Amino acid sequence: MLDGSAWPLGLATGRTMEPVYAAVVRRVAALAPQQQEVLRQRWLSFNLDEYVGLSAADPGSFHAVMHRHLLEPLQLVASRLRLPEGLAVDPHVEAERYGAALGAAGGMGLQLLGLGLNGHVGFNEPPSAADSRCRCLDLSDSTRRQNAGAFGGDPAAVPARAITLGLAEILAARRILLVVTGAAKAPVLRALLRQPPGVELPASWLQGHPQVEVIADRAALALAEQPA
Ligand code: GLP
Repeated sequence: MLDGSAWPLGLATGRTMEPVYAAVVRRVAALAPQQQEVLRQRWLSFNLDEYVGLSAADPGSFHAVMHRHLLEPLQLVASRLRLPEGLAVDPHVEAERYGAALGAAGGMGLQLLGLGLNGHVGFNEPPSAADSRCRCLDLSDSTRRQNAGAFGGDPAAVPARAITLGLAEILAARRILLVVTGAAKAPVLRALLRQPPGVELPASWLQGHPQVEVIADRAALALAEQPA
């Protein structure tokens, strides 16, 4: 994919990713037209998650976010930018289907991740085991508050459930890039860099991955080196 590998690209949503996608769009715009066309033809990405109960047309859905930030500016073919189907009749069946579709595509090459304030990656809320798989789950109050901005600031308007890839699919990616920005993430980043892996901090399972990189700004790193 973007990094030249044949495997799908793993994509995340959230405010952290917006400048990342804006940078991708700028980089692609600087390519020659034929190179842009090759990229469109070869594109295959799987997003981490989607809210249950939202249609792709709902502006709060991750489908809509990906359309705004990547699909439209890069003129990608919609079927090549995949997300779980939020309106599936049975979200548990949809989670199984989505996990299987990723497996059939060979698993992720590069996986982009953001970090939740409670240590979630994708929507793997605490507690999440390292072998958790793609599933439908309840979102925590903290996550619904964190994501209320896309729903008029009202946490109650944030869907109560989501479908997310599990830690098993995330950890099977060949490379992982975790992006952490802003002072609000400083406590969770500190915990992630210091605590042993465990279910209460799902992102901590990344410590066992052989090729993970963390990109953080100064604000997010502010507490990382302070003594305990
Ligand atoms: C969201 C997404 C995650 C994202 C995280 C951080 O709820 N499900 O994939 O990485 O929370 O969000 P933000 O970048 O807005 O802080």
